[in-house]
Amino acid sequence: MSGFSSEIRVADEDPREGDGSYDATARIVDAGGIDDDGTVEAALRPRRLSEFPGQPKVRDQLGLVLEAARRRGAPPDHVLLSGPPGLGKTTLAMIVAAELEQPIRVTSGPAIQHAGDLASILSSLVEGEVLFLDEIHRMSRPAEEMLYLAMEDFRVDVVVGKGPGATAIPLTLPPFTVVGATTRAGLLPAPLRDRFGFTGHLDFYEVADLERILQRSARLLSVPAEEDALAEIALRSRGTPRIANRLLRRVRDWAQVHGSGEVDLAAARAALSLFDVDDAGLDRLDRAVLEAICRRFGGGPVGLSTLAVAVGEETDTVETVAEPYLVRQGYLVRSPRGRIATPLAWEHLGLTPPAGEQTPLPLAERSDGGRFG
Ligand SMILES: Nc1ncnc2c1ncn2[C@@H]1O[C@H](COP(=O)(O)OP(=O)(O)OP(=O)(O)O)[C@@H](O)[C@H]1O
Ligand SMILES: [Mg+2]
Repeated sequence: MSGFSSEIRVADEDPREGDGSYDATARIVDAGGIDDDGTVEAALRPRRLSEFPGQPKVRDQLGLVLEAARRRGAPPDHVLLSGPPGLGKTTLAMIVAAELEQPIRVTSGPAIQHAGDLASILSSLVEGEVLFLDEIHRMSRPAEEMLYLAMEDFRVDVVVGKGPGATAIPLTLPPFTVVGATTRAGLLPAPLRDRFGFTGHLDFYEVADLERILQRSARLLSVPAEEDALAEIALRSRGTPRIANRLLRRVRDWAQVHGSGEVDLAAARAALSLFDVDDAGLDRLDRAVLEAICRRFGGGPVGLSTLAVAVGEETDTVETVAEPYLVRQGYLVRSPRGRIATPLAWEHLGLTPPAGEQTPLPLAERSDGGRFG
């Protein structure tokens, strides 16, 4: 197959692939940035709201907020974007700046350890600038408090000196727009959440929207692709554009090595099965979570931390990466007593649910070879 732009191809090569230390099959459906080089993601990002497929509600609401601000010639309300990984929060933050025709400053909660880090960023903002705070729920408490004041009053107290001689010099900031992104909106303290005038919650994409995203990506990557193949990939991408784009690249790889070079249905099916994505689009972690609940805990309820230990993952990964999609698709229920597998989960694993409620099943043989716990 020919026709790759060399720029994109270079960016697509993940340094971790092929050196033996990284198991590319381990988490192809992980929505986090496992095998994604930032550059290829950036190349596939829509730049304007009009090119952004899916999320109609958030798109229309945000479009209105931005257009009104543009007409007033003033910065819009601060924008908070929440939702599972890979649904387009960072993409939308870039779009906000592009639509406002303003520069954007990018930083993240974990990068701001001290209030002073934030003070120096804030005091260097220019009028109208967009400040993108990724993973805003991971900011330190003192920085958070400084941010409230800056967001509300466009003011920051710069502390000069140390110890008893230290003085706080109030500094007035030019109006600017904070765009915050978080996978865990629930972890944001209420005072911070309240200072965002607009909150957009991103939900999993419809299959038709993912198809449009894949058509666009195939075009940008110069990958010849048949429509039914893209439909198959879209169906099995966990409602997540980042996963869709990643699977497209793996199907392209398969087509180049074993097929005609064209992304067709046979290539899609073969590559998806090679990378352990099942018919429902569930990957190994998803299935491990369901299997643990069904086989080890008799269908639940089981607590999150116990479940995470059982599958050998961080609680955060289980909670933010695997669970939202499983809940959304009706495989799993979160209850105050813990996680419970639904009849759909039992059926998907080819197991029979216990007759009475909560009858623990004997520890059955694991089909995943015990990799997950
Ligand atoms: N609506 C969309 N249309 C086309 N591509 C999209 C869309 N949303 C996301 N993508 C693609 O998915 C990739 C991941 O999106 P993005 O980085 O914005 O997700 P995120 O929500 O910020 O994820 P994280 O929580 O991991 O930071 C983007 O690089 C882009 O290629
Ligand atoms: Mg992001």
